[in-house]
Amino acid sequence: MSTDARPPQSRPVLQVGPLKPSLAQTLENDYRAYVLPDETAAFLAAHGDEIRAVVTSGRTGVDAELMAALPNLGAVVNFGVGYDTTDVDAAAVRGVLVSNTPDVLTDCVADTAVGLTIDVMRQFSASDRYVRAGRWPVDGNYPLTRQVSNKRVGILGLGRIGSAIAKRLSTFGCAISYHNRNAVEGSPYTYVGSPVELARDVDVLIVAAAGGSGTQGLVSRDVIEALGADGYLVNIARGSVVDQDALVDALVCGRLGGAGLDVFENEPQVPDALLTMDNVVLLPHVASGTVETRAAMEELTLRNLDNFLKSGRLVTPVPMTVAR
Ligand code: 8YV
Repeated sequence: MSTDARPPQSRPVLQVGPLKPSLAQTLENDYRAYVLPDETAAFLAAHGDEIRAVVTSGRTGVDAELMAALPNLGAVVNFGVGYDTTDVDAAAVRGVLVSNTPDVLTDCVADTAVGLTIDVMRQFSASDRYVRAGRWPVDGNYPLTRQVSNKRVGILGLGRIGSAIAKRLSTFGCAISYHNRNAVEGSPYTYVGSPVELARDVDVLIVAAAGGSGTQGLVSRDVIEALGADGYLVNIARGSVVDQDALVDALVCGRLGGAGLDVFENEPQVPDALLTMDNVVLLPHVASGTVETRAAMEELTLRNLDNFLKSGRLVTPVPMTVAR
């Protein structure tokens, strides 16, 4: 991918999928970015070879087919830490770089994991519904719930976000164990060799692993069964990491204590069976959704784009290896 000067009328940036409105506005005003229309064929035939950088989000991403229609593409700039919707193997083969927005959202996503853990175990959302429905004066005290402090917590995926969750829950007196492909050197937490063993040994399993083909269904039926009727599952990662059918079955049959979910297999669709359960907390994928964090994600996205257009390099590139 060359970075040589193009004629002034060149428009090298393409927006793919919806983005935060202020980001989309900047792309339009400052970069005269194209927006990929729903009917792509005519647009790609006319403008495909102008595009050097795509700006997208984890919701949409760039697949191999779109990359092939952009012969001069040099970078996919992803708003969000998760980039499982972009075909990184295809990008590596084509020499296309990919960036994401790590670190800036770690605190808010970790806060959300802790919030979901407390909410699902203490049933604050359900208690709030109880009060609003006028049931307190009629039905009396809310049933007892489960303590969070001092519980055993398992983290699936001890990366940046998993570590931030572990740090927070350590201060609640929780015993923290984790599973990764490999043990994290120097970690103060207990390494467990498989997701099933991890689930068997904890009260709460928190999913913080990256999405994508490598983690598809990692929280399998067996893992959910191992967590058991007194166990809780919290997922702030990707819906694809959990076998959602198995999760719903286990909740319907009382073989899992409860679940706190910010992500789902087929967003924004949420299984109907979950909607009436008080031992389930459902969030519409909001973990990074604060004014502060989204502004920081926007700033980092634009920095990646700017840097790439000026130097051919990204500020926060994702690791790329060509699959064999
Ligand atoms: C965003 C996320 O909601 O960063 C991620 O991977 O899931 C969230 O922060 C999402 O990327 C925005 O599309």
